[in-house]
Amino acid sequence: MASKGRVFSGARPTGRQHLGNYLGAIKNYVALQKDYDCIYCIVDLHALTTLDTTQNLRENTYEMALDWLAAGIDPQKTILFVQSNVPEVTELHTILSMVTPLGKLTDLPTFKEKIRENPNNINYGLVGYPVLMSADILLYKANAVPVGVDQAPHIEFAREVVRTFNHRYNTNVLVEPEMKVTEVPKVLGIDGKNKMSKSLDNHIEIAATPEETLQRVMKMVTDPARQRRSDPGNPDVCNVFTLHKVFSSPEEVEMVNRECRRAGIGCVEDKQLFAKNLNAALAPFREKRAELGRNPDYVFDVLRDGAKRARVIAQQTMAEVRAAIGLF
Ligand code: TRP
Repeated sequence: MASKGRVFSGARPTGRQHLGNYLGAIKNYVALQKDYDCIYCIVDLHALTTLDTTQNLRENTYEMALDWLAAGIDPQKTILFVQSNVPEVTELHTILSMVTPLGKLTDLPTFKEKIRENPNNINYGLVGYPVLMSADILLYKANAVPVGVDQAPHIEFAREVVRTFNHRYNTNVLVEPEMKVTEVPKVLGIDGKNKMSKSLDNHIEIAATPEETLQRVMKMVTDPARQRRSDPGNPDVCNVFTLHKVFSSPEEVEMVNRECRRAGIGCVEDKQLFAKNLNAALAPFREKRAELGRNPDYVFDVLRDGAKRARVIAQQTMAEVRAAIGLF
């Protein structure tokens, strides 16, 4: 089938991926390869804007890439690369920054949130974060960008940058990207309160061993109103049930839904069942990861090749951008 266009997405290198990353991004990235020409980028420069993601960059990049590849990102077809390996993005970032009103950046809800989270490190790069993200997308003339709803202001920003740039330089070299919202169940962490995240240590790694997975699952908070085994529970407010719907068979989901409500099944038993299904679902991924990981050069080779292919596109776009502006 003919490609429906080019997809670009990026994620900061956060190391081994968790269930939230898997359901929120990776699964969708893998599926999109069927219909689109995909470019996926590990945005290590963006990681430098916050202190927690500045640590262990090389290791985190490697582990994340290995997870993505084992989960089904196909480097024969898709371009997988590390942002800083294509330095043209920093040049486009500078150029785009000149068509960006500062107030637009400081007004963004994502910026306000970032400075609230990082009061001790409000750096220039944090303000320019959406400009660099726009440069990522526009450098590759992506038609569609799969991201979570939290990124909507950034995509809208990128679209405005395209319009301003193309208008100012009377050109059409930059392409307005469409946002492709990833519809996903809200995956909470084992605390049952916050979004699953590594920094909160409430996550379950997809590459964990079955034993570690069971241990983490047993710590998951369920319906807080269910205090005793004999209390009926409410699956609608239970994070384990949300995940059952993804990883368990329809019959089991039905059974859990029914039995939890009449205290026919307890949380312990329920979590054991979920852990069993989760481990079964992840087994092929874990096997593949172990296999790919046996060749330590594999991930580096893939990323080097990806950067080479990405750079060809990037250099072409930059030649057009420089010509449109009239840079010497
Ligand atoms: N801002 C995105 C995030 O925090 C990461 C990102 C950087 C990105 N560049 C991108 C996403 C380009 C999509 C396209 O999740």
